Amino acid sequence: MAYSSFNELINARKSSNNFLEGIEITEEQLNEIFTEVMLAPSCFNLQHVKYLVIKDKTMKELFRDKASPQYKVHTSSAAIIVLGNKKAYKDAERIYEPMKMLGMLDEISYAKTIQDIYAMYEGRGENFMRDEAIRNASISAMMFMLIAKDKGWDTCPMMGFNAEVTKKLFHIEDDYEPVLLITIGKEDPNNIRLRGYRKPVGEFVEYI
Ligand SMILES: Cc1cc2nc3c(=O)[nH]c(=O)nc-3n(C[C@H](O)[C@H](O)[C@H](O)COP(=O)(O)O)c2cc1C
Repeated sequence: MAYSSFNELINARKSSNNFLEGIEITEEQLNEIFTEVMLAPSCFNLQHVKYLVIKDKTMKELFRDKASPQYKVHTSSAAIIVLGNKKAYKDAERIYEPMKMLGMLDEISYAKTIQDIYAMYEGRGENFMRDEAIRNASISAMMFMLIAKDKGWDTCPMMGFNAEVTKKLFHIEDDYEPVLLITIGKEDPNNIRLRGYRKPVGEFVEYI
């Protein structure tokens, strides 16, 4: 852990304006982050999120050229598309079966859980499936940024990309909603984003 307390980590994370050019992030370093990201919560533990990591320089430039013109995409070590699976509920059996096999879930509870999941997602329909994809992927994305920071990497969450073009460019299936772009790298010390004004607690929290 790079920070001595969680509070220090929370204060250290900022959205990078720009990154130092030419810094490589390896698959191994990314997988260390993802290994912790996997513990993020998700509705029914369905794990709706999928990360599409654009690490290859040529592909990253193509992505910047066609779908995301911000300069930091160029200087980032990787541009990561956070996707949310609108059909994540169809993984229910695969996710719950091992728990049944291990005896953590009896046959009746297993069957009821699967039935509840299908009934909820199919019963509430397409808008709910999309909301769920966005909700769950966003929670995971926030965890990604904090874990990355803890491991010495800077990030920027970005809506500055064209989702439709991105889907075509990388042949992303229709089941997946592009939720967020995260650029990752080492922040350029000559172009640091100052902490923006934050509303006081009394303004964004209401107790009833
Ligand atoms: C959903 C979302 C989309 C954002 N899109 C962009 C973006 O396209 N480009 C950018 O430079 N910053 C983007 N940001 C970063 C915000 O500007 C930043 O989080 C905000 O100014 C607060 O700064 P901080 O994260 O450094 O505390 C985005 C943040 C979020 C949460």
